[in-house]
Amino acid sequence: MATIELDRVSKVFEGDRRRVQAVEEATLLIEQGEFVSLLGPSGCGKTTLMRMVADLEEPTEGSVRVNGLSPQEARHRRQTGMVFQKPALLEWRTVYQNVVLPGEVFGDADVRNRAGDMIGKVGLGGFEDAFPRELSGGMQSRVAIARALTHRPSVLLMDEPFSALDEITRERLQLELLEVWSETNAAVLFVTHSISEALLLSDRVVVMSPRPGRIVEDVRVAFDRPRSPSLRSDPGFVSLEAHLREELNRGGGAV
Ligand SMILES: Nc1ncnc2c1ncn2[C@@H]1O[C@H](COP(=O)(O)OP(=O)(O)OP(=O)(O)O)[C@@H](O)[C@H]1O
Ligand SMILES: [Mg+2]
Repeated sequence: MATIELDRVSKVFEGDRRRVQAVEEATLLIEQGEFVSLLGPSGCGKTTLMRMVADLEEPTEGSVRVNGLSPQEARHRRQTGMVFQKPALLEWRTVYQNVVLPGEVFGDADVRNRAGDMIGKVGLGGFEDAFPRELSGGMQSRVAIARALTHRPSVLLMDEPFSALDEITRERLQLELLEVWSETNAAVLFVTHSISEALLLSDRVVVMSPRPGRIVEDVRVAFDRPRSPSLRSDPGFVSLEAHLREELNRGGGAV
């Protein structure tokens, strides 16, 4: 049994003024401990696909299973953690209180020990008692990342988590994420617009077509782990990067 299973999943949004088919017949299996990135042009349905795994949208057709359960059951058992494209923080809770929240709800006693450590790792030491409104956009993103990593769900969904960050912080957090992931054995579905980020992090990179989003490519990335940023200059890496760029260009649209 795969940890995340999408079987011919389609999603249509029926509005008063328009009907949008966001995802078309997506089939995807992600195993426990596997890190899979999703690339595709803006508006092709990446967030929608992820939201169906997180139980925030219902598929119009097809089925989604998480650890063999419906997404709703998996969410209720707190098996799924998500970092949204826009950080979703509770405004009335401090940084620390936001980070410990999922663990608190679930009664995870160790979460308090891990939270302080993770807040430091994302570079927010000294801001534990700050409120979200007192933080920059990138700092808010880092709180959401710390929250997801502290909670250690078996299924981790990350929607462009690093897009609001400067290059150096982004590279540091990529390595931090890999370290935490290697300790937790989570199945990760990671959306990004950066081809090199997808390659550096992933076991597989999945490419979606422009809307209606179909899965058009599924590339295995077999470099040894732990990975280091110097991998970016490896000839195998460079050629995979060129291949993915070509695939995305073929589909047209903005990546
Ligand atoms: N709740 C909604 N109601 C109606 N249409 C929606 C809704 N959510 C998404 N869509 C439409 O579905 C399509 C896919 O959107 P989605 O957010 O999944 O794209 P994306 O691949 O994540 O894009 P980006 O890279 O820009 O984040 C878009 O055309 C969008 O307008
Ligand atoms: Mg999106």
